[in-house]
Order: sequence, then structure tokens, then C-alpha cells
Amino acid sequence: MNPKKSPFRRRRRLIRALIVVGALGLSIGGAFADPPPADGTDLTPIERLGKDIFEDTSLSQPAGVACVSCHDPAQAYQGNNGSSISALARGAPQGALGKRNTPTIMYSSFAPPFEFIEDHDAKTGAVEKIPVGGQFYDGRAVDLITQVEGPLLDPNEMNAASKRAAVEAIRIGAYAPLAREVLGQNIFDDPDTAYVKLAAAVAAFESSPRFHPFASKFDDVLRGKAKFTPLEEQGFTLFKNPEKGNCLACHAGVEKSNDPRDWLFTDYTYDVLGAPKNRRIPATTGPGKIPDLGLCQRPGIKSAAPPAYDTESLCGAFKVPTLRNVAVTGPWMHNGALTTLRDVVAFYATRDARPGRWYPTAKQKFDDLPSVYHANVNVAEVPYDRKAGEKPRLDDSEIDAIVAFLETLTDRPAAYATRR
Ligand code: HEC
Ligand code: HEC
Repeated sequence: MNPKKSPFRRRRRLIRALIVVGALGLSIGGAFADPPPADGTDLTPIERLGKDIFEDTSLSQPAGVACVSCHDPAQAYQGNNGSSISALARGAPQGALGKRNTPTIMYSSFAPPFEFIEDHDAKTGAVEKIPVGGQFYDGRAVDLITQVEGPLLDPNEMNAASKRAAVEAIRIGAYAPLAREVLGQNIFDDPDTAYVKLAAAVAAFESSPRFHPFASKFDDVLRGKAKFTPLEEQGFTLFKNPEKGNCLACHAGVEKSNDPRDWLFTDYTYDVLGAPKNRRIPATTGPGKIPDLGLCQRPGIKSAAPPAYDTESLCGAFKVPTLRNVAVTGPWMHNGALTTLRDVVAFYATRDARPGRWYPTAKQKFDDLPSVYHANVNVAEVPYDRKAGEKPRLDDSEIDAIVAFLETLTDRPAAYATRR
């Protein structure tokens, strides 16, 4: 029960090869001179079919909510569907709210499938298995195709009666001819097969260049077409410095590479940050409420893990998100607890040195996690390796510099978002 060790959290200089493999086979965009046309003529037929499904509000029960309601291209494919609680999106049924903060799904197609992989510790030579990849904050969908049924059937999101019901709505809907053209005239004969192929079309759309335009200032700097300001440059240096921000250790990029695809700002690993409780959302802890423990609650985690693996050590762990477009995708963290980007960076710097700023009482650190799992929280790694009262790894002006750098990761909306 009491997790003494958290094998996954030992530092790994992960997986350059993995990121490159993820990028293979995906075309690289960034070349849109004008906003992509609303009719999707920039897309391949299967991507266009995926777009139609992505925007189809007739699939939800009651009708009215589509993928695009929560993943809005005007907000880097993130959003909350007009919810009164910014961290939790409004679903189709009256009063329904999602359980986590909606992430951007730009660049999500680069995530490798969820699995435990061998990680070689550069210092000790030890080999251990660590979880990586998958879709969702807890990787519970192995890939983008499997992911589709999550929101479709989730009673708090689209609430469709079944996959077959969704296929039937598409069969009688406006773009059924396109589905027949792309997937074959007999596509609707077997609803189960049809479902998988239609979900694959959604995944194809999410893997199209609109979702990875690589059209930020940062990308232009890599390409030699723009220059950082001194503040942005300082922020990037601090971001990489293992004694200062050490952000690159998890929000990975290949330091020597000028190829934007080598800079996805995640290594798709999982980590326990101990984010503060979000007091603006209905209680997730307390009698009758289940705390959000992340990866250890992932369905099938025990069978996915190696034999005898202590899956309790994964309680509190969430997937490292990309930082591309992070300046426009607040609120931040899986529970949306932090409402300014500066707070996120300041949280890293001062979580342990000044805990009272983040938790109501300094004694109750990590207040969104039952105390039995506090030992899982990463307190070993820079920048959160400080003790109460110690000097934070980053001072206020350094925090500002990192924020300025993060703001360079925002894609020009014209590169991917059609005007609506
Ligand atoms: C009601 C709001 C809502 C709707 C509708 C919705 N999503 Fe999401 N989406 C979310 C939330 C919230 C998460 C994070 C949930 C989690 O991690 O447990 C998410 C996560 C995802 C992810 C994982 C991203 C990552 O990097 O881990 C993908 C991909 C995705 N959604 C695609 C879709 C598709 C495709 C549809 C339509 C079939 C859809 N979403 C409909 C709110 C929504
Ligand atoms: C040990 C791994 C690790 C390190 C080091 C790290 N992060 Fe993170 N980061 C994560 C994880 C895991 C999350 C998601 C946590 C959650 O949602 O509860 C995250 C979330 C974030 C978010 C919120 C993203 C969103 O969309 O909500 C930002 C911003 C961020 N990190 C920036 C940074 C910066 C800046 C640094 C360096 C000062 C840094 N991170 C260092 C693992 C790390």
C-alpha cells in the first residue's frame, strides 16, 4: 500500500528515438499561407470525413455536442463548451460536466501507443520498465483510434447510446455519401467494422497538418527565420538548464536539432507533480467522492504493467503534456487548478520552498492527493527539489523569462484554424 519507491520517476533522458518514430509517416505542415479553407479542401478524403465526424453535433445524446465543442480550433483545439466552471467542460446532458481539464489535442498524434517500455538509466546502467504514451492524462486509450469512443460514450461528454447508434446517425446523415466514397459502398453493412473505420477517419483528421502546423515563433527561430528577444532567449536557456528550470527533462526536445518535429515538449512519460486541489470544482475528495489518482486508476493498468510492478506508485501520476500552444490553453494542469501561466511556472519554482502559497496550510502539501500517496510526489528532481524556506531554483525575473519563452510556442492561428 505505502508506496516507498516510484520507479517511473527516476530521471530518464528519454527516448529520442521514440519521438522520431512517432513523427514518421506524418506529413509536416507549417506551410499554409492563408487559413485552411473551411470546406476542408486542404485535407485528404479520409481526413475530410474525419473532420465531418469531428464536427457532427448529431452524434451526442441529446444532440448538440461534438468533438469540436470542446476542442475548438479557435483555442488551439482546446475548450470547455461554454461551461461555467472553466476547468470542466460542459457535456451534452443537462448539467453534465467532464472530469478533467480539456487538453489541447494539437500534436497529440505524435504520442506513441501506451505501454511500459525499458528505460536505461544513464548513470547507473540499471534497466527498468516505465509507462509512456497513450491518449488522455492517464493514457487509458492506447491510441487516437481507440480514444474516440471515450468522449462519444462518456455520459458526461457526448453520451451517445452506443457505437452502433453513432454509426447509424452517420449512415442517415449528410456526409454518408463521403463515408461510402472513402470507405466503400458497403461500409454501413456491418456497424462494428464501420465504427472502427469511422474512428480511424477521426484519427486521420487529428493527424493532419492542421493539428501540427509547427507555425510558432519558436519554430521560426529553429528555421532561422526569426530571433528570440533577449528575455525569450534567457527563458529558453533557463528552460533547458538542468540546475534551473530543468523543464526539458520531461518537456523534451532534441537540443542539437533544428527540426521542429524534434521539439514536441513532452517525452510522453508520467509524473506526480502534486498539483494543488482546484477549489472551484465540485469536490473530488471526501465521503462518497473518488479522488483523481491518474495513472494508477487507468483501466487495465495492472495487466499492462510488468509482473509484480507496484502500480500504487503510479497514483497521482499524469502524462507530461506538450507545451506547444500552452499560453492559449489555460487553465492549466489536469484539474485546471492554476489559472495563469505564470502561476504554473511559479508553482514549479516554489512548490516546496514556499508551499503556503499553493496549499491552504503548508503542512497539507499535495492537498489533491490522499496522504498515503504523498510519497509518490516527485521531490527529487530540479526544480522541485527544495525544502521549505530554501531559495527557489528560479527567482521572479527568471520565472518571467520562462513565461516569455513559453509564449513563443503558440502557433499562428491562421496556420491551422479556419475562420468560422
Ligand atoms: C465535453 C467535452 C469534450 C468533448 C465533447 C470531447 N472531448 Fe476530447 N477531451 C476532453 C477532456 C476533458 C479530455 C481529457 C480527459 C482525460 O485526460 O481524462 C479530452 C481528451 C482528448 C484527447 C487526448 C489528448 C491527449 O493528448 O491526451 C483526444 C485525442 C480527444 N480528447 C479527442 C476528442 C474527440 C475525437 C472527440 C469527439 C469524438 C472529443 N475529444 C470530444 C473533453 C472533450
Ligand atoms: C519531472 C517531469 C517534469 C518537469 C521537470 C517539468 N514538468 Fe511540466 N509537467 C509535467 C507533468 C507530468 C505535467 C502535468 C501535470 C498535471 O496535469 O497534473 C506538467 C504540466 C506542465 C504545464 C501545464 C500544461 C497544461 O497544458 O496544463 C506547464 C505549463 C508546464 N508543465 C511547464 C513546465 C516548466 C516551465 C517546467 C520547468 C520549470 C516544467 N514544466 C518541468 C512534468 C514535468
